[in-house]
Amino acid sequence: MARGPVTLTINGEKQTFAVAPETPLLFILRNDCALNGPKFGCGLGECGACSVLVDDRCVRACTIKISALDGRTVTTLEGLASDSEPHPVQRAFTEMQAAQCGYCLNGMIIATVALLRKNPAPGEAEIRAALRGHLCRCGTHMEILAAVRRARDLLVAERQLPRQEQERSAIP
Ligand code: FES
Ligand code: FES
Repeated sequence: MARGPVTLTINGEKQTFAVAPETPLLFILRNDCALNGPKFGCGLGECGACSVLVDDRCVRACTIKISALDGRTVTTLEGLASDSEPHPVQRAFTEMQAAQCGYCLNGMIIATVALLRKNPAPGEAEIRAALRGHLCRCGTHMEILAAVRRARDLLVAERQLPRQEQERSAIP
C-alpha cells in the first residue's frame, strides 16, 4: 500500500493527495474534490450509497483506503455524463421516475453502469444480483429495477443504431 502521496485520475483529471494512507476515498471525494454524488450512508460498506467506479468496478468509497488506489481511475456520478448530456443510465432513472428521497440513487446508478459495462444484456436474475447489496429505505425497488431494464434497452438501441446505419449505407 502506498505510504507517500497518492495519485488518482478522478473523472478524467489526474490529482495527487498527501493524506493519511487510511483515509477513506469517500472523504477525499466529498471533502477535497467537492464531489457529493457519492453519499455517506452507513460508513461500513453495507448500504452502497457511497459507490463509485474504480476502473470499471463498483466499489464502496467509504471503506476503501486511499492508499489502495494509487494510479487507479475513479469515476463518480458526476463523471458519467458527457458534453452535459446525462448518461443513458441516468436518463433511464429519470424516465422511469425511479426515486423517492434519492439517497440510494448514486449507488444504484453506479452499480447499473458497472453491470452494463460487464454484461450489456443482463437478464432479470443478473440485474437483481448486481443491485442486491444496495439498500433503498424508501422501497423504490420496483421502479429501480424498471429503470435498469430501460437503461439496458437504451444502450442496446444505441449500439444497434450505428450498425443499422452502416448496413443501410452499404445497400446499393
Ligand atoms: S456509506 Fe458506504 S456502503 Fe454505506
Ligand atoms: S429512493 Fe430513498 S433510499 Fe432509495
